[in-house]
Amino acid sequence: MSDRLILRQPDDWHLHLRDGAMLATVVPFTARQFARAIVMPNLTPPVTTVAMANAYRDRIRQAVPADSAFQPLMTCYLTDASDPNEIERGYTTKVWAAAKLYPAHATTNSAHGVTDMKKLTRVFERMQRIGMPLLLHGEVTDPGVDIFDRENVFIDKVLTKLLDDFPDLKVVLEHITTAEAVDFLMATSTQIAATITPHHLMISRNDMLVGGIRPHLYCLPIVKRERHRRALRRAATSGSAKFFLGTDSAPHAVHTKENACGCAGIFNAPFALELYAQVFDEEQALDKLEGFASLYGPAFYGLPANERQAVLERGRSEAPREIGAGNERLLPFAGPNGLAWRFVGLVEAAVNETRPRAGS
Ligand code: NCD
Ligand code: ZN
Repeated sequence: MSDRLILRQPDDWHLHLRDGAMLATVVPFTARQFARAIVMPNLTPPVTTVAMANAYRDRIRQAVPADSAFQPLMTCYLTDASDPNEIERGYTTKVWAAAKLYPAHATTNSAHGVTDMKKLTRVFERMQRIGMPLLLHGEVTDPGVDIFDRENVFIDKVLTKLLDDFPDLKVVLEHITTAEAVDFLMATSTQIAATITPHHLMISRNDMLVGGIRPHLYCLPIVKRERHRRALRRAATSGSAKFFLGTDSAPHAVHTKENACGCAGIFNAPFALELYAQVFDEEQALDKLEGFASLYGPAFYGLPANERQAVLERGRSEAPREIGAGNERLLPFAGPNGLAWRFVGLVEAAVNETRPRAGS
């Protein structure tokens, strides 16, 4: 078994960076490991215009350490009032890489989200025509639907119709959490792909709820039964290009999570690659990590894979319990049993070696 892992530098296809002091704190963690990241637009107020996205991208770039080549890829927050012309303008001028749809009230900062998919017909038509990916928070918000069923009902009631109505629209079902989502992806055309987080690969709802409630393991979509975690592991390590890396790293200050009404979101950016490597290692599928982490995402988005390489080593490492963020504190997710891999750093690809490898 290899103790050293070298793969093309990965990208994070689903990330929350926040703003202000939190932004300044969290950006360096992602910039250390990932070349690019799809940055979620759920700020308050949400990033709905090209001007707002430009300004947010500038603030992110200011937080990127000088020795990092990290590039933020911006997204447009869709509302009932989204204008197809503004969306096309942001995409063709390369400000936006994609648009994000939150069903209204589905998750953190989604109050301005979409109340009815029909309101976006013209937007979807335009995105389909220009090839702009639609990123979905795939959960219904009907209060009558149990929180553990919201992804499945979204697939049955909303997603199937969307794909039928817009057969050429590129869609990413974000942070999938269920065996049913995996099966749906496997049975559907290449128009749709899905991201999978490290935490959904590592924890089930028992980890969150047995022996006491653990607010730092609470996120949306909520973690499900063990059989779903296993299905997600099989999907991620299958070698299918429909599944790729998206951390959904979503920092919230400790006091807002350890609260009578705690926020949803898991902050995994500090150890994201270590966690994915551990999962692929446990599944004896380290040879599949590069596809999932570094190749299938760029292929779906029509971007080149990264030239640099990331190096990891097997070995336990210490995770800090807390990280300061301005006047706040953050608690990073480091897996249920501690870290089994260590991120060593980035190296330039050797001239005569374009095929990265897993080796010792
Ligand atoms: C995210 C956040 O905090 O912005 N929370 C989460 O639990 N994943 C929003 C989201 O992606 O649902
Ligand atoms: Zn998210």
